[in-house]
Amino acid sequence: MASALVLALSSPAMAQTEPEHTDPIVINGGEVEMQTAVPAPDHLEGAFDQIYSGWLFRDTETQAMQLDDFENPGLIFVDQGIDDWNTVEGEAGKSCASCHEGIESMEGLRAEVPKVNAEGELWAMEDYINDCRTNRMQAEALDWNGGRMKNLTAAISMQSRGMPMNVAIDGPAQPYWEQGKEMYYTRFGQLELACANCHEDHYGDWIRADHLSQGMTNGFPVYRLKQAALVSQHNRFRGCIRDTRAETFAMGTDEFRALELYVASRGNGLPVEGVSVRH
Ligand code: HEC
Ligand code: HEC
Repeated sequence: MASALVLALSSPAMAQTEPEHTDPIVINGGEVEMQTAVPAPDHLEGAFDQIYSGWLFRDTETQAMQLDDFENPGLIFVDQGIDDWNTVEGEAGKSCASCHEGIESMEGLRAEVPKVNAEGELWAMEDYINDCRTNRMQAEALDWNGGRMKNLTAAISMQSRGMPMNVAIDGPAQPYWEQGKEMYYTRFGQLELACANCHEDHYGDWIRADHLSQGMTNGFPVYRLKQAALVSQHNRFRGCIRDTRAETFAMGTDEFRALELYVASRGNGLPVEGVSVRH
């Protein structure tokens, strides 16, 4: 990255550029319609008035792929996730469906995670899945970034498509939220850039060939054209931190769970996109 660009990004001057259009995402000719711009949650007062889906910042071809479930490459993985949901595995001889019945029973979950579990720990969707696999199915835990885990999170996320993100940030979630917030404003790496330097101060600007969004997570897991695969939130965070030339946290760490909660809360109110398409 050119040093002039780094200077520009780390300058305190705000350079937010609002999107010219804020059309809704209309899928399958009207079957699903999702707002791409909604008022920012209260805790972002002073930072944002409106929050925007990352979809608005993509080129028209990438956008179009998300408008038709037959064109959205992520939907193949949703189907694979549903197959997995119905597959018996492990010593207990059960599938997810043995206890939860249809995957529609997961409706609403994606809008609320990460959330604090009964033991007071912050858990991401991946943690809930692996808890059921290891403790209730007597099967092996799935790799956080493996294909099967991403297929399952995609299939479960799809059940909440269109529902507004609504993670809790108070009560037992508050200390995790504070931790995530602190990370969001911490400058990482040789480039000394915080998440906020790019996604808060400079959304709408171009950085190399990329149009910077507000870095929202309501579209995850994302089908990334560049990687030709589903990408999890923690993988995306890792990539962004690596771009600042910093040592990064591993996927599935408490640090990334806290960051995931904070970033999700910045998007409270934006619809869950199920599986979005980004480049
Ligand atoms: C033996 C029964 C059983 C099996 C098999 C099972 N689960 Fe669960 N699951 C549960 C129970 C019980 C809970 C806790 C429900 C609660 O606390 O309301 C739960 C909770 C969950 C949650 C959290 C839901 C929430 O609203 O907080 C998720 C996600 C989940 N399971 C996914 C899965 C997936 C994916 C599979 C298959 C890989 C699976 N489960 C297999 C019994 C099971
Ligand atoms: C050097 C600038 C930069 C920094 C710093 C940065 N990112 Fe990003 N981020 C990008 C770019 C470029 C993209 C791809 C275009 C876009 O969606 O904004 C991106 C994409 C994302 C996305 C995907 C958005 C979507 O709709 O698919 C998320 C989430 C995200 N970043 C979170 C973070 C978090 C959390 C941090 C801090 C740990 C961070 N980023 C730090 C540049 C940055």
